[in-house]
Amino acid sequence: MTDLNAFISGLPKAELHMHIEGSLEPEMMFALAERNGVAIPFASVEEVRGAYQFSRLQDFLDIYYAGADVLRTEADFRDLAAAYFDRAAADSVVHAEIFFDPQTHTARGIGFGTVVAGLLAGMEDARARHGITARLILCFLRHLSEAEAFATLAEAEPWLDRIEAVGLDSSELGHPPEKFARVFAAAAAKGLKRVAHAGEEGPADYVWQALDVLEVDRLDHGNRSLEDPALVERLAREQMTLTVCPLSNLKLCVVPSMDDHPIDHMLAEGLRVTINSDDPAYFGGYVNANYRAAAEGRRLGAEQLATLARNSFLGSFLSEEEKRAHIARVDAYVAGFR
Ligand code: ADE
Ligand code: ZN
Repeated sequence: MTDLNAFISGLPKAELHMHIEGSLEPEMMFALAERNGVAIPFASVEEVRGAYQFSRLQDFLDIYYAGADVLRTEADFRDLAAAYFDRAAADSVVHAEIFFDPQTHTARGIGFGTVVAGLLAGMEDARARHGITARLILCFLRHLSEAEAFATLAEAEPWLDRIEAVGLDSSELGHPPEKFARVFAAAAAKGLKRVAHAGEEGPADYVWQALDVLEVDRLDHGNRSLEDPALVERLAREQMTLTVCPLSNLKLCVVPSMDDHPIDHMLAEGLRVTINSDDPAYFGGYVNANYRAAAEGRRLGAEQLATLARNSFLGSFLSEEEKRAHIARVDAYVAGFR
């Protein structure tokens, strides 16, 4: 292992952008298909992995929603979350704020409570076994209607004390943030924080809408903000956290190669960027693989990597005291590595 890879391995970090359904590894897909008697259109784990060739976001989403069909019971969601936290712990993740897509499951007749209870059990297990803290972010699927998002928010009502924030994901183009202005306002009124995917495939205008209409606390992806200097200036001035996902960007052709990834430009612009895995089972790696790919592609040094890790805590929904304690651990780690 190179020194920089070793540095990344032990660097304490938070993960702020990962979809728990996107951590469904092909091996678990087969195991759950068998456990639940669900047919899947693949003969082997290798065939599943071979199908993960995408030229745009929608190619991935089609296969991701199909894969989620094997998730049926509370135990399935618990096992899915526990498996993710095992991988996260191995990558020195000490805090994770994970997305889930309830509409993908409720549309198939799975109860909202089945999904959340399973994920919460996986989070408790992670705390007990690894000391990892975690929060849940309920994502609305933006290709569905505003009315369907409101119905999902109503289903979440009994669980709101265990849900930190709402988010917005799925097909970006043609589904601007403003479509969900009222549902985000309703979520805010219930005390929920707000995040949204914007500027992954969609234009910089969608990022402005996420800021001004949805009033997000954090922005997911945000790559295309770089096309708009006034937007970059604002994001930097407000120290808005951007959850960037390098391997996802590569797999979904948001960037042509890792050598062209803008992560170092974003840092140089003073943006509060973080590195995350998005859908690690589909995009070729968990969070440390994303740090390593970005570091290699853009020649990032230890100081930049430490900034990314500090940003992951600064951009989290932890208390100010917790953030300070985690950042002190990053500082001590960096000092010890020299
Ligand atoms: N759902 C899961 N991953 C996503 C991504 N990268 N963009 C939009 N929706 C998603
Ligand atoms: Zn995402």
